[in-house]
Amino acid sequence: MKKLIISTLLAATPMMAQVKEKIEVPYIAFPIKMGKGFDAVQANCLMCHSFGYIINQGRQSRTFWKGKIKKMIVHFKAPISDQDAKTIENYLFEHYGNGKEK
Ligand code: HEC
Repeated sequence: MKKLIISTLLAATPMMAQVKEKIEVPYIAFPIKMGKGFDAVQANCLMCHSFGYIINQGRQSRTFWKGKIKKMIVHFKAPISDQDAKTIENYLFEHYGNGKEK
């Protein structure tokens, strides 16, 4: 029994040494802005990928967002109605837009 305790302690010591320093977990802001149209984004965009794909683009023009939505529909066959596409375009431009139409 004594042997077991000693060997357990020996085995555990190096691991404890590794966590002696204070570990700080970085905080990564991942803001999802709620608001009018978010439901449509959730239903139509997040089925394939996370919101990260969208916000990693940074602030962009209306044309940019319109183009991305079109790309998802044309190239990736996203089943998005014209009405939802418009709602999403408005949502993205309002929350992740740079204020420019083009
Ligand atoms: C049918 C699946 C699907 C749906 C639905 C979908 N996407 Fe995507 N999306 C993709 C794929 C696949 C990629 C490319 C992934 C890669 O290149 O690694 C992508 C990439 C992106 C990118 C990264 C930039 C780029 O041009 O590749 C953005 C922005 C984006 N999607 C926005 C949207 C938005 C906004 C919606 C909702 C209107 C949406 N996606 C819905 C499949 C989808």
